[in-house]
This record gives sequence, C-alpha cells and structure tokens, in this order.
Amino acid sequence: MKHVYLDNAATTRVRDEVISKMQEALANNYGNPSSTHSFGRTAKTAIESARKTIAKYMNAHPSEIIFTSGGTEADNMILRSAVKDLGVETIITSKIEHHAVLHTRKKWKPMG
Ligand SMILES: Cc1ncc(COP(=O)(O)O)c(C=O)c1O
Repeated sequence: MKHVYLDNAATTRVRDEVISKMQEALANNYGNPSSTHSFGRTAKTAIESARKTIAKYMNAHPSEIIFTSGGTEADNMILRSAVKDLGVETIITSKIEHHAVLHTRKKWKPMG
C-alpha cells in the first residue's frame, strides 16, 4: 500500500539537499558562533550567510531574519515583542490557533 503524507501543516519532510547541508554543518561546523576562536567565526559566517540568503528570497533585510529553536519560541518572541516593544494593543486570534499563540496572547493581553 502506498502511504501519502498529509500532515504538512504540522511538519514536512526534509529535502535531501537540506539533510546533506545539515549533516555537513553538524559534522564540520559545530563551533559556537558567539565564540571568537576560528571554529566560532566559521560558524558565525555560515549563519550570517544563511541569514542573507533567506532575506534575499523573502525580500527582507537580513536584520529582519531571526532564527529560533522552534515554533513556540517564535510565537512567544513575536507576540511579546509586538506588545512590549511596538505597543500593539490588539491581537486577533481564533479558537483553532496553536496553544503557543493562545496562551501567550492571554498572558499578555488578558482582556481580549
Ligand atoms: C503556530 C505554531 N506554534 C508552535 C508550534 C510548536 O512548535 P515547536 O514544537 O517547534 O515549539 C507549532 C507546531 O505545529 C505551530 O504550528
């Protein structure tokens, strides 16, 4: 029987070329990008290069590209920042939104 994956809203299959790039980075470019030694500088260069590439494809400035560890961190960061730093007063969500969005919104905007 042929299986068809239909849960791409949750997660998607990783393309082979992405796996290959990730394996290469994990094996050879594991320095801490915040470190000033050569391993760190090499990692930092790779990250900044990726940031520029992504920004170009998204027609954005590299400074607008923020890497997070996952969806929950990204949701929290952007919602908190919108309220705290940008003064956003209304956040519209729906009942089907992910808990990472709903719970963060409730904590920061309990009225809506
Ligand atoms: C909108 C949204 N936020 C958060 C998550 C959770 O992501 P993570 O497990 O990477 O924190 C998901 C996962 O599907 C999501 O769709």
